[in-house]
Amino acid sequence: MTRRPQGMQEVTARLGGLAYGGDYNPEQWPREVWLDDVRLMREAGVNLVTVGVFSWARLQPGPDRWEPGWLDDVLDLMHEHEIAVDLATATASPPPWFTTRFPAAALVDESGARRGHGARQAYCPSSSDLRAACADLAGRLAQRYAEHPAVVLWHVSNEYACHNWHCYCDASATAFRAWLEARYGSLEALNQAWGTAFWSQGYGDWAEVLPPRAVSYNSFANPTQQLDWWRFSSGEHLALYRNEADVLAAHVTQPVTTNFMSFFKPLDYWEFAEHVDVVSNDDYLIGADPRPDELTAMSADLMRSLAAGDPWLLMEHSTSAVNWQPHNVAKAPGQMARNSLQHVARGSEGALFFQWRASRAGAEKFHSALVPHAGTDSRVWREVVELGGHLKALAEVAGSTVERPGVAIVHDWQAWWGAELDSHPSRDVSPAPQARRWYSALWSRSVGADFAHPHGDLDGYRLVVVPCQYLVDDAAAAALAAWVERGGIAVVTYFSGIVDEHDHVRLGGYPGAHRDLLGVRIEEFVPLLPGSAVELSDGSRATTWTEHARTTTAEAVTTYASGPTAGSPAVTVNRHGRGQAWYVGTELDDDAFASLVDTLLGAADVVAPLAGLPPGVEAVRRRDDATSWLFLVNHTDASVEVPVEGHELLGDLAVAGRLTLRPGGVAVVRETDRDVGASSP
Ligand code: GLA
Repeated sequence: MTRRPQGMQEVTARLGGLAYGGDYNPEQWPREVWLDDVRLMREAGVNLVTVGVFSWARLQPGPDRWEPGWLDDVLDLMHEHEIAVDLATATASPPPWFTTRFPAAALVDESGARRGHGARQAYCPSSSDLRAACADLAGRLAQRYAEHPAVVLWHVSNEYACHNWHCYCDASATAFRAWLEARYGSLEALNQAWGTAFWSQGYGDWAEVLPPRAVSYNSFANPTQQLDWWRFSSGEHLALYRNEADVLAAHVTQPVTTNFMSFFKPLDYWEFAEHVDVVSNDDYLIGADPRPDELTAMSADLMRSLAAGDPWLLMEHSTSAVNWQPHNVAKAPGQMARNSLQHVARGSEGALFFQWRASRAGAEKFHSALVPHAGTDSRVWREVVELGGHLKALAEVAGSTVERPGVAIVHDWQAWWGAELDSHPSRDVSPAPQARRWYSALWSRSVGADFAHPHGDLDGYRLVVVPCQYLVDDAAAAALAAWVERGGIAVVTYFSGIVDEHDHVRLGGYPGAHRDLLGVRIEEFVPLLPGSAVELSDGSRATTWTEHARTTTAEAVTTYASGPTAGSPAVTVNRHGRGQAWYVGTELDDDAFASLVDTLLGAADVVAPLAGLPPGVEAVRRRDDATSWLFLVNHTDASVEVPVEGHELLGDLAVAGRLTLRPGGVAVVRETDRDVGASSP
């Protein structure tokens, strides 16, 4: 099964607008509450609920029992009240009878300990018993409900790998060996790729090959073995998803999805996204983050990128606090709507939540919901009803897409896995904080970004950021160089292009993959200790990383003025064909970083979607062939004026050249007189 680009439009066409609702778990409540639920859903404008995610034990209370009657009633009730259903295959968490009957299907950790049931997702993704049981359950539900008029979307399992990203059991070891055999063809090739001449690790028989289980104390498992383990494990979860998606495909016509988790390291979502009809995502604010709203935008931009620019769906977020962070901060008044509309601005076709009604019992009872414990006489409920009204007012944006940004940030799970392996020059170096820093600089200038796969099509972007992409294959390195040659501007940061896909160092001076493109040759890395800094020739300071380097064809923009690498270039630019290749070999201080970003945006001629935007206002444009809509989110504590003309949809007001946005306010303006046919940039 491959992705259906129009999958989300099929859903919104059936809804008649944007989606609004969330996970609905009626099995936690007596039937009389269900009637109250549908009444309140109608009151809030809910039109889509996800049903059955954790219903396996209720549908199959024992190995030979099958009790779907209650689900028939729930779906009928929803249909009767014109609420559509995203129906889950109910396989997210096997019931206790399953792991009791199939103990070998349990999750095993790296020290060999079997993890018990009693929480959720306590299974091995490679277990054939688990796969058979999931396929059976998905098949029963598909056959029973394929034609049910309430069902508009299918939801396979839930948040794959969230609690069981790697299983080290014997079945996993067998599957890992088969995967390696398929990848390498021979033990010789495996020995070569894994560099097993080192530390006497040569394998003479496939049976000797193991997952990277806990090894001797204070030592390191073979890095390529670890890298392949991340690849294999991600693939096993995808195979588990496809095991069910293939069953659904034989019975149902509605689109199929499974919910992603933003920047979740264990799963290569580029690969996963190829196999879902609708890209959907769960995004939760991290209360301790200094700028959580920025993370919201970043996560939404990743989803749009995974969906190749097509509409996608925010499957879960929270109305207020979650339950799983050390301190579960409640959302401030207005914050929920701001977050929801940030996602819609960035291409989500609606806003769904976890969950409809706050649970009375269980591990998530203090997680917020659309209906809080306090009931409807509450701020949260009033805001829920208000948000329902807003989404209804935005029905006309359904099916439109986000104006393509001029900037792409390369994001590759393989490079992420590689960069964060152990025994590296510095544990402080990783693509995740690097990508965040660049994204943050763009976001604060209201400049959008896509995320790009290293093999993705870069044409159409004017600036490409390559943040700490430690591992890169020859094809991706060549594609980047060719794109710059055609006129693009690339900025590559330190510890990029160091190794090939086997985690073998590219020799002859770092960064072997991009040396010619950048016109720089690095002899030696000189990472800095935490807390220490060096000075650069422009008077700024830098931390984390320095290098003994020299320029070959590049020009040094700044050099190190102090520290162990004084005299070496720190930031360089190389003319390459019609474009420019910049290299940033250290972690610049905030002012120097900001000025570099401004220089690059200026050189690439990338601007915010609207001239004259006040600082702190996020602006994103969606458009279709005839119309454009400007989403404006005021992240400041002050009222601001935005120069825009058109019709504001949330307040249903004409805007004649100047819109006042209250502190924390959101506006969506159907713009007058924009040249909408033209695609930008
Ligand atoms: C995830 C899960 C939900 C719930 C929420 C809590 O998104 O899919 O089942 O656990 O987290 O935030």
